[in-house]
Amino acid sequence: MKINDIRKAYQDFFESKGHKIVPSAPMVVKNDPTLMFTNAGMNQFKDFFLGYNETKDKRIANTQKCLRVSGKHNDLEEVGVDTYHHTMFEMLGNWSFGDYFKKDSIDWAWELLTKVYKIDTDRIYVTVFKGDEQDGVPADTESENLWKQYMPADRILQASKKDNFWEMGDTGPCGPCSEIHVDMRDEADRKKIDGKTLVNNDHPQVIEIWNLVFMQFNRKANGELEKLPATHVDTGMGLERLAMVLQGKKSNYDTDMFQFLIQHLVELTGKKYGADEVTDIAMRVIVDHIRAISFSIADGQLPSNTGAGYVIRRILRRAVRYGYQALGLKEPFLCDLSVKLGQAMGDAFPELRTQGELIQKVIREEEASFFRTLETGIKRINDLITKAKAEGKNELAGADVFELYDTFGFPFDLTSLIARENKILVDERGFEVELAKQKDRSRAATQVESDDWVILMNDDQQEFIGYDFLHTELYIVKYRKVKQKNKEFYQLVFNITPFYAEGGGQVGDQGTLTSKDETIRSS
Ligand code: ALA
Repeated sequence: MKINDIRKAYQDFFESKGHKIVPSAPMVVKNDPTLMFTNAGMNQFKDFFLGYNETKDKRIANTQKCLRVSGKHNDLEEVGVDTYHHTMFEMLGNWSFGDYFKKDSIDWAWELLTKVYKIDTDRIYVTVFKGDEQDGVPADTESENLWKQYMPADRILQASKKDNFWEMGDTGPCGPCSEIHVDMRDEADRKKIDGKTLVNNDHPQVIEIWNLVFMQFNRKANGELEKLPATHVDTGMGLERLAMVLQGKKSNYDTDMFQFLIQHLVELTGKKYGADEVTDIAMRVIVDHIRAISFSIADGQLPSNTGAGYVIRRILRRAVRYGYQALGLKEPFLCDLSVKLGQAMGDAFPELRTQGELIQKVIREEEASFFRTLETGIKRINDLITKAKAEGKNELAGADVFELYDTFGFPFDLTSLIARENKILVDERGFEVELAKQKDRSRAATQVESDDWVILMNDDQQEFIGYDFLHTELYIVKYRKVKQKNKEFYQLVFNITPFYAEGGGQVGDQGTLTSKDETIRSS
């Protein structure tokens, strides 16, 4: 099955089970201070789980563009080095909002995987939550018994909170989960080592493909769990991993999702894929990153020097550096890859077509400017080497190496490589000290902490009256305190509002709130 057919089969299956299929939410999050990017399919439904908002559709399914490069779920360092993590990936998901729970969720997961996708039942393992005393949550014996209808007890494994209690972030909806793992190893390897010993052990061919989360709690800012008003289901299956399984490959990058992009790099560089590790990692990093970059720009997040924009800029520069350093690419190459991506994924994600021109323009400019920075950086490094040698030193100072990293985007190993070629050492310890100082500085600057909502009244209807009124009397339904960059502010939700919300690039309305004691301006 091709990637587009796998995605469609998932949606068709859940549609046949009474789910409404909705589009992916944008990957860039604008209205949740606890999150920069969508990191799971459930993000857009967070308020339904918490009971702050209601939906008339109790069953929903979709494919969600997710980005895991910051915050609680951050896979950046694994990307490209291994064969199954990504910055941006598609998460297939089905949700029940106070409707079906464990039984249907497990029955349908089994039916889809074994009857529709026809995965060999003998290769499937599942994990269930073994309970946690500190949180006061018991073992999930209900899920265990449900799985026993389908598989022998020795393929149902107990797992701890670390792997089997899913939380969106430090606060928010959460619950025990049951994960489905598939063992893709050859028969001979499977005979030698029992697959169950490799589950959750970072084996590239024994991987988790689907997570069924049984949402029951809200993790509060003080760490306590609070029962949700109803129980819900939140599932997430990595499309790229599923494609690897269904296409019988050993790596996500060998599926039709990535191969055409890798082939493009092979032709461009004259290097083979699969012959040496350095080249392979670089190609994987680039074809992974081009998706994150293109989709972020399509969703309105341009590379910049702050916040979410800076994350995207760093991903783009990381891709360029790998191309430059490992593949010998000396001219912009990402833009062409992005065009190819748009052609392949434009049917499923039309924004890649409608925003195609913008995506290419931004990538072209950003890439060209970073290539210039790289050149200037190389001049700077040569000057530093000449100066050090003239002064009789055999080492580049940590602070200089850090400046190359921070200002010119040179990672430590690129600087070391150039230094080595010039027969000079680099002060790694000094560099680490500077890096740690910078991390402390940026941690203090970007930390976002929000208290729990304080609910003042029940009001589950959202009412925007701004087309008819610019002033109104209203009530505060709930509020919470948010701390960011050492600043404190409050978020307020009203029963009615004339303020138009931020959305799709639209800037939110600003105004004043007047009580009998004071007038406050929104920021
Ligand atoms: N929200 C769950 C996850 O991301 C399904 O794994």
